[in-house]
Amino acid sequence: MKVTVVGAGNVGATVANVLAVKNFCSEVVLIDIKEGVSEGKAMDIMQTAHMLNFDTTVVGATSPVDAPDYSATAGSDVVVVTSGMPRKPGMSREDLIGVNAKIVKGVVDQALKHSPNAIFIIISNPMDAMTYLTLKDSKLPRNRVLGQGGMLDSSRFRYFLSKALQKAGYPATPTDIDGTVIGGHSDKTMVPLVSLATYRGIPITQLLSKEEVDDAVAQTKVGGATLTKLLGTSAWYAPGAAAAAMVEAIALDAKKLIPCCVALDGEYGEKDLCIGVPVILGKNGMEKIVEYKLEGDEKAKFAESVAAARDTNSKLGDALK
Ligand code: 2OP
Repeated sequence: MKVTVVGAGNVGATVANVLAVKNFCSEVVLIDIKEGVSEGKAMDIMQTAHMLNFDTTVVGATSPVDAPDYSATAGSDVVVVTSGMPRKPGMSREDLIGVNAKIVKGVVDQALKHSPNAIFIIISNPMDAMTYLTLKDSKLPRNRVLGQGGMLDSSRFRYFLSKALQKAGYPATPTDIDGTVIGGHSDKTMVPLVSLATYRGIPITQLLSKEEVDDAVAQTKVGGATLTKLLGTSAWYAPGAAAAAMVEAIALDAKKLIPCCVALDGEYGEKDLCIGVPVILGKNGMEKIVEYKLEGDEKAKFAESVAAARDTNSKLGDALK
């Protein structure tokens, strides 16, 4: 298993680091436009190999903007795209669309030339629109174009639910919680599914008040923005780990049920749209979309999320040509 991670910023370096530590890839190539950064981070990660006991080789490569060179990435099985601007405090993910669309398009074109069989995982924001752009631009089958958002948002949901349960007197940790977030990876329109959230099988609605659940949902939705405010730039540990988990499910053909962004073709009543839904991930990338029957409030919220994602896609403009 060879994996390329494009962009050696905080998120890209975390993906490479988590992949190395998990020790299931033969090679991870970290590539960036800034000379020295990916080489330095790759070398730094490799110098933990002895202590952390892994045999994955992490390699750094530079691909200058004016003379792209993706030769080091050739033959990758999975390409993770983290390139582009991260948001600053006060910005929405959608604010990044103009600048990141050009970058993502260029990256996907280059990566695909050298790895024609790769599965793409898009992290760059606004992620749902960047995934749609990748699908349209590459003309790849939809099973090979995935966006990372749902895994991260679901993990944040579990974290905030565990905090709420702890406050209510239950010693819950995030691994005790089941929680799924679907819809767009967007502050306003992601859809944490309260109806599916449990504490070791017990519906959280039986243990927490409506106010406590609503608060966990609200904190999940702005989870990325809260961190951006604290850090001055967007988060990286959880986004990086989320992408690495997706790579792992593909590499090990694990058939894991992971919420992520994929193109819908009739599922959930939608077509020609990339948005977060529960997906089985295995060696072919998206192997199956699991259709969960949305009802009431959750159905309405998903519809709102769909409308917002379509609106963002409409701003891709020339990038889609
Ligand atoms: C986040 O939510 C980076 O969009 C990512 O932190």
